[in-house]
Amino acid sequence: MVNRTYQEMVEEQKKGMVPIVRGDLTGKTVMVTGANSGIGFEAAKHFATMSPARLIIVCRSVEKAQQSIKQIQEETGYKNAEPMALDLGKFSSISEFATQASKTLDRLDILVENAAVAIMGKYAQTEDGWESMLQVNSLGPALHVLLLLPIIMNTAKQHSVVPRIVVVSSEMIFYANIGSDAIAAPNTLETLSSKEYCTPEVLANRYTESKILNVMLVHKLAEHLPKNIVPVALNPGYCLSGLQQAARYKKMEDEFAYTSEEGSRQIIYSAIGGKDEELRGAFTSYSQVLEVSDWMLSEEGKKAEDKTWV
Ligand SMILES: NC(=O)c1ccc[n+]([C@@H]2O[C@H](COP(=O)([O-])OP(=O)(O)OC[C@H]3O[C@@H](n4cnc5c(N)ncnc54)[C@H](OP(=O)(O)O)[C@@H]3O)[C@@H](O)[C@H]2O)c1
Repeated sequence: MVNRTYQEMVEEQKKGMVPIVRGDLTGKTVMVTGANSGIGFEAAKHFATMSPARLIIVCRSVEKAQQSIKQIQEETGYKNAEPMALDLGKFSSISEFATQASKTLDRLDILVENAAVAIMGKYAQTEDGWESMLQVNSLGPALHVLLLLPIIMNTAKQHSVVPRIVVVSSEMIFYANIGSDAIAAPNTLETLSSKEYCTPEVLANRYTESKILNVMLVHKLAEHLPKNIVPVALNPGYCLSGLQQAARYKKMEDEFAYTSEEGSRQIIYSAIGGKDEELRGAFTSYSQVLEVSDWMLSEEGKKAEDKTWV
């Protein structure tokens, strides 16, 4: 039974974060989205200390990426970081990114889909017509992964390695479900996105839904991809980062929040730790594989998974 209570989450947080896993990334190419802030920036810094041949710093603009690269170089001495621009809220930006990547990247060993937003409040649509948080947190990263798959699969084949696709989800997956009415609708994603469906109550749950969809994406990738690719989802824990600017929970921050550096350790574990066969399709937390929620394992949860990421 794996429906965690809020109190269990707090107790787990208070035990403290696990130590960083270290490895040698010589010759490898690592990519991190949202690498200018919070957990993504700290993960990029950790990767930099493990000497990858290339570290691709993906941010909303090249300028932000350059700033992040400068800071990484100052703090670690690493000189092989490269900027790439990506707006997950624009499908055109994602496809331009993939075109550029296909020309400039000869391999991709670790892809970290970290970028996300937590917008509280009003309904907003992207220029592609999707509800904004759904697109930035779930649809955009899914398209980004799919369009980079040719490079990732080629890396596995040509270099006889096992690339990892690391998707940053959240502990929040234990505290909500995707609505039955959206699952029953002919097109679940379109229903989740529609203005009529997105009442204030639905939007209050949207961040969590988007993180459930991240885990479901990892399940589906594991189902469809060859065994020599390892997709893995993770919970970084509750951390102080840019995300709290949207919703501040002062008591949680004071009592048990981790630093972004501590949260980033779970990205590193999922990217280079554990065993490939155990992490493939898994959800990790505190450097362990954790079973997902009862609802996600239920018939309705499985149906939601099939109807969103066919
Ligand atoms: N902090 C926590 O307690 C916590 C807990 C569980 C899970 N997480 C997850 O951890 C991940 C990192 O979040 P964080 O806490 O480190 O927050 P953060 O400091 O706000 O970082 C979010 C990153 O995502 C980028 N981003 C936002 N919208 C984007 C877009 N449309 N296109 C491309 N990039 C975009 C941001 O870029 P800009 O700087 O340009 O906005 C930023 O680099 C997220 O997936 C979040 O859901 C966080």
